[in-house]
Amino acid sequence: MAPSAQGRQTVIVIGSGLAGLSAASAALRSSITDVVLLERAAKPGGNSIKASSGINGAPTRFQQQSSRDLAFFSDTVRSAGGRISQGEPNSARRKRLISLLTERSAAAVHFLADDIGVDLTVVAQLGGHTVPRTHRGAGKTPPGADIVSKLVAVLQKNNRFHLKTGCEVTKLLTRTSDTTTVVGVEYRFDNQLFSIAGPVVFATGGFAGDGDGMLARYRPDLASLPSTNEPRPGMHGLLTSAGAQVVDMDSVQVHPTGFVDPLAPNSHVKFLAAEMLRGEGGILLYKGKRFVNELGTREHVSSTIMGLEPSSGPSRQWDVQVLLDPGACVAAASHVAFYIWKGLLSRMKVSELDEATRETIREYSQAAAGKTSDVFGRVAFGHWVLAGGTEDNDKEVCVGWVTPVTHFTMGGVVINDKSEVMTSTLDANEETAIPGLWAAGEVTGGIHGDNRLGGSSLLECVVFGCIAGEQASAKAVVR
Ligand code: FAD
Ligand code: SIN
Repeated sequence: MAPSAQGRQTVIVIGSGLAGLSAASAALRSSITDVVLLERAAKPGGNSIKASSGINGAPTRFQQQSSRDLAFFSDTVRSAGGRISQGEPNSARRKRLISLLTERSAAAVHFLADDIGVDLTVVAQLGGHTVPRTHRGAGKTPPGADIVSKLVAVLQKNNRFHLKTGCEVTKLLTRTSDTTTVVGVEYRFDNQLFSIAGPVVFATGGFAGDGDGMLARYRPDLASLPSTNEPRPGMHGLLTSAGAQVVDMDSVQVHPTGFVDPLAPNSHVKFLAAEMLRGEGGILLYKGKRFVNELGTREHVSSTIMGLEPSSGPSRQWDVQVLLDPGACVAAASHVAFYIWKGLLSRMKVSELDEATRETIREYSQAAAGKTSDVFGRVAFGHWVLAGGTEDNDKEVCVGWVTPVTHFTMGGVVINDKSEVMTSTLDANEETAIPGLWAAGEVTGGIHGDNRLGGSSLLECVVFGCIAGEQASAKAVVR
């Protein structure tokens, strides 16, 4: 491996989403490591910059009664479903990864808050969680943009960090004498090919935006759904051609609430109606009636919607509404203001709603006030304040149309607890890793099983990105 400037060693990170940025940050803790971060796009951030609900952590100092939150591991295992609970031989390895994710979650949140200066003081409860543990800031900037911009700013103060945008990695380079060891990458910049040597951290994100490619291959039934991801190809093939195993590739998350923009109802890429809108008190309606516990897992809420009659338009969509009462509107104020500005939510008085919706509000308000049990089993009502009587008539709610969207890919390359990319499957008796290659973030698989909990992707980026960066930098120094 070629030493970089002043005898330092270079760690190569591919992808500038939160996984890549976290890896870079961890690798730079070693004073003799340089980091070259190669990013295909013109600007850093990937899908991470779009994250809208926040990052999970437990127990953190921002959670109320945080010491009681010992259920993050069990919530994650339950959400991951049959791929773990049916006792397949590989479930011990999956559980080890989940343990790392959840045990290091508080440190991940505190790292972003204390070392990077991100405000994460507001905590909401998302679907499938038994308590609030998804952290975001109190200001106007959504959590993904806040985390990415502050992390990039901190990294750029370090003269050992080199961010190169517009550089698409096209190949992993292996040792001539030992083609199983990765020693660097080839990349394209300005239509010319270049190469660079060093240990490699791969953080190129998922394939939910690869509708005609990987999504059509692994989940043809979902390829025609709209998506929250911009169209872009998945990069897993670069890893499998170096011997990496993949797992759970058919496990694709359909988020229940992508906004249907009234001005472009059939557009393929949808703005996300953040899950925290429901966490802060929002409800879902079909023809004015609730039909599901809005805080069930995404898998449950999405499949319930997709069991309803689809809309009649040309796109594969459903006519569902999200409704926020005044309490939820205040708790989600900055998101609500943005969605109203985009024309995705509109304000209405309760008296202006149709009779079916007003009847639903009357019933639901009784459950939210603890006077009745919710018919769908909802037990957390966020900040819902409507009382259900005529006193509500002049109060304003926010309403928008939503539909299921492909959002996240749980499958990806197999990694171990050191974030090494594996040539062995999760079932194998012995683990074998590809020397010189680590991966983190959405490009990896096996942690979330059938269903990822909201807020756990940003978390996995920080936890496994940091592990990958540390390990790669330690190897760079040892060589
Ligand atoms: P990304 O952030 O997607 O970054 C990958 C980067 O790699 C990209 O910049 C890409 O251009 C680059 N790249 C790809 N191939 C190459 C190549 N060959 N060469 C060079 N560069 C390459 N998760 C949460 O936990 N909480 C949330 O609130 C949340 N909200 C979300 C909202 C939206 C609208 C979306 C779409 C996702 C949300 N998620 C959320 C999911 C989460 O944002 C992503 O899963 C996660 O950020 C992925 O991070 P990553 O670093 O693995 O990949
Ligand atoms: C959302 O804001 O609903 C997305 C959160 C996530 O994907 O974790």
